[in-house]
Amino acid sequence: MKLIIDTDPGIDDAMAIAYAHASPDIDLLGLTTVFGNTHVAQSSRNARYLLDLLGADLPVATGAALPYGSDTYQPSAYVHGDEGFGHFTDVPQIGSDHPLPAAEYLVEMARVHRGELSVCAIGPLTNIADAIRMDPGFLSNLAQLVIMGGAVFCPGNITKHAEANIYHDAQAAAEVLSSEGNMVLVGLDVTLQTLYRACDFEDLAQASKATGGFLQDISRFYLEFYQNVAGEDGCGLHDSTAVIACTHPHLFQMVETAVKVDVAGEALGATRAVDTGVKVRVCRDIDGQAVVDLFTGQVASLP
Ligand code: BDR
Ligand code: CA
Repeated sequence: MKLIIDTDPGIDDAMAIAYAHASPDIDLLGLTTVFGNTHVAQSSRNARYLLDLLGADLPVATGAALPYGSDTYQPSAYVHGDEGFGHFTDVPQIGSDHPLPAAEYLVEMARVHRGELSVCAIGPLTNIADAIRMDPGFLSNLAQLVIMGGAVFCPGNITKHAEANIYHDAQAAAEVLSSEGNMVLVGLDVTLQTLYRACDFEDLAQASKATGGFLQDISRFYLEFYQNVAGEDGCGLHDSTAVIACTHPHLFQMVETAVKVDVAGEALGATRAVDTGVKVRVCRDIDGQAVVDLFTGQVASLP
């Protein structure tokens, strides 16, 4: 499967990118970056560092720095660390970005690989909304758009109503989720059923010294956050779960429904199943252990 990941790396983003690189089912064509867990320039810097570590010579196209309608934004440093990679800072600057901005790159790649390209969006949806604004045929050129975002049948994580990726640009999310296309929403409803514990990172690091060791290092901060804030003995494989949904949809139970995003007010970023509107497939249940095992099995095969 040809895949582009739209990402804000980000600790669980790094895990998802490593998984996609390792997976024999995925032909990873490139990354596009967005603000979110960190500022967009840092997202790109982290993406290029990670690709270099993985030995993957792939383009990184930089995208949106701010959400729609706002000139401010605060990165989620308390979840992902000051530079997005936990306690690991001063991330080396490696290589340079693709000449096209993210949305243009996405539009172009969707045209070139018409009907064959999957896009997995694991950050705020600003680049995807930009691509749809730029080319109304963008989504119909894709094989599928799989989104890590939302909390349709469960509480949010950044507020009691909203999941972080949707909350960070609710307007963009509303535009994307009301556009016609083959879309799958992989939200907290399922990603919180993929708990990855310190002992899982330890096993991963034993099997894969460079990649697994790096993921273990950066995850310490993330695990501390989950322990201190959510009282959880592990973190959710949010972004990896969305990548796995691209190639292994049979591990998920999905329902077809329209999804409305609150774009203002106390429930900003809430994702509600509603009766009218464009239907998307929302993941409602998951074989969480199978997803965890698949993730470990593939990433453990890396150096
Ligand atoms: C999502 O928000 C970010 O913090 C994670 O990288 C993931 O994409 C989970 O709500
Ligand atoms: Ca992310």
